[in-house]
Amino acid sequence: MKNKIIPKNKEIVMRDDDFIVSKTDATGRLTYCNRIFIEFSGYSEQDLLGQQHNIIRHPDMPRSVFNLLWQTIKSGEEFFGYVKNMSKEGSFYWVIANVTPSYKSSTGEKIIGYFSVRRKPDPAKLKIIESIYQDMLAAEQRAGTRDAIFAGTKILTDIIEPTGKDYREFILSI
Ligand SMILES: Cc1cc2nc3c(=O)[nH]c(=O)nc-3n(C[C@H](O)[C@H](O)[C@H](O)COP(=O)(O)O)c2cc1C
Repeated sequence: MKNKIIPKNKEIVMRDDDFIVSKTDATGRLTYCNRIFIEFSGYSEQDLLGQQHNIIRHPDMPRSVFNLLWQTIKSGEEFFGYVKNMSKEGSFYWVIANVTPSYKSSTGEKIIGYFSVRRKPDPAKLKIIESIYQDMLAAEQRAGTRDAIFAGTKILTDIIEPTGKDYREFILSI
């Protein structure tokens, strides 16, 4: 379904007090979406539940960002990141997302799913992120499928390393 959508240069902007919330199972399949998620995505709740979270993936997003997201949350850490999403009719909307693992309460060890809350990003910060993502995407495309993640991640690492921060500190400091 998602592959047929043609991206439009039309932005939908989050309101200051919006929270976009979703939950997934351990494989990233949607198990819960709040009202604002449904509104921005343009899909019905029925369309969304059971689908992979990439149903709202925007083609401008570098693959390396999602690679980092999954590496981080699978290892039990929380992830912060800026994400450009795409609605059912092709519009885009930027979010700053926090994604955390949910654990089986009895053991506290096994990850049973993930939980994500998104807020409206600061437009000035988005300018910086957009430029970094464009460079990452271009590097991924130049490198080709096999080496895309390495090439995209290198762009990000080369920007962050000289700051002396780790990824999380860098993102939160922008
Ligand atoms: C809790 C959670 C929230 C996520 N939120 C988003 C999101 O808002 N937008 C998005 O494109 N991918 C999101 N993802 C990542 C997707 O699962 C997927 O990795 C990404 O869309 C890239 O899809 P692809 O690997 O098919 O290219 C989320 C994953 C999890 C576990």
